[in-house]
Amino acid sequence: ANILLLNGPNLNLLGTREPDVYGHETLSDVEASVRDLIESAGHTLRAEQSNREYELIDRVHEARDGIAAIIVNPGAFTHTSIALLDAFNAYEGLVFEVHISNVHKREAFRHHSYISGRADGIIVGCGVQGYELAARRILTLLALADG
Ligand code: DQA
Repeated sequence: ANILLLNGPNLNLLGTREPDVYGHETLSDVEASVRDLIESAGHTLRAEQSNREYELIDRVHEARDGIAAIIVNPGAFTHTSIALLDAFNAYEGLVFEVHISNVHKREAFRHHSYISGRADGIIVGCGVQGYELAARRILTLLALADG
């Protein structure tokens, strides 16, 4: 199956952005380790990052055609974007929402996510390892659907 790893605004700065909150690994490190996992299970990964809300929405629209699962960290759009939620509502595959930091330990405006009500699973506060955990869960679900 084809899987999409989608990162939202400011996540291109991973590794140098507030490293005490988000760690020292870069987005390419994250993409490489998720790709390894997915590809060694015989699936394919497309990895995208954008700082623009409409581009993230467009990527979710494209995913309606042939993408079985999306791992998404929408960054701050998590807390603001009904438009991105609507795009996920129009998508029928698996959705796993990842937040590197524990948003519930942080400012109140980070506590609400528009995406969580649509997500099949949510991984919060596990650092960048959260992306791998989401990928492992998707591999499990795909294997169950196959067998
Ligand atoms: C984040 C948490 C958001 O509140 C923040 O705006 C981000 C990153 C996380 O991965 O912890 O950009 O989604």
